[in-house]
Amino acid sequence: MDPQAPLFDTDQTCVELAEGFFMLSAFIDTAPLLAQIELIATEAMFRHMQVGGGKHMSVAMSNCGPWGWTSSSSGYQYSHTDPLTQRPWPSMPPSFMALAQAAAAAAGFDDFEPDACLINRYARGAALGVHQDRDERDLGQPIVSVSIGATATFQLGGLKRSESLRSLPLHDGDVLVWGGPSRLRFHGVKALKPTAGGPDTRHNLTFRKAK
Ligand code: SIN
Ligand code: FE2
Repeated sequence: MDPQAPLFDTDQTCVELAEGFFMLSAFIDTAPLLAQIELIATEAMFRHMQVGGGKHMSVAMSNCGPWGWTSSSSGYQYSHTDPLTQRPWPSMPPSFMALAQAAAAAAGFDDFEPDACLINRYARGAALGVHQDRDERDLGQPIVSVSIGATATFQLGGLKRSESLRSLPLHDGDVLVWGGPSRLRFHGVKALKPTAGGPDTRHNLTFRKAK
């Protein structure tokens, strides 16, 4: 890569799909992100967290940053430490922080200070059911979500679970930012169907201000 090239393609169009919900297509070169994820996973391995009823999520997860999102039989919570090792989550790489803040700023959220980065890993068939992100203290801060690898279908809903879902393809390097009146929109990811010849795995970074 040209060392003079800007880190983010901030000239990219930022499309507002709903009030407060933005798509930044091909915003970031993901190869360096994947290398960082691999390093993080040597300290905090990917795991299929437990949800209610003794089931496990099909998406494998890890975290970096001061707070990590966890799910267990007792519910969802942010924790300073990895329940598998009792050690603090790996620190958030400065390049992750810079990416999250640049994407938030491109969408008009200038003071984003994420203290949590959830790392999702989707193999073929992995899906994330429709949900709201509501475990965070300050809902005035947006969510920044970075797609890496295989293309997935994001489902964008409204503020009520009963509202219809719109399908959005998410490609490698795409970034979604949602906040303001869209902060509590329902959303999910359909079962991953990698295309022949393309990457067979998808990763996603979700940056949030948890506390
Ligand atoms: C999430 O909603 O937490 C993740 C969304 C994604 O993987 O794109
Ligand atoms: Fe979410």
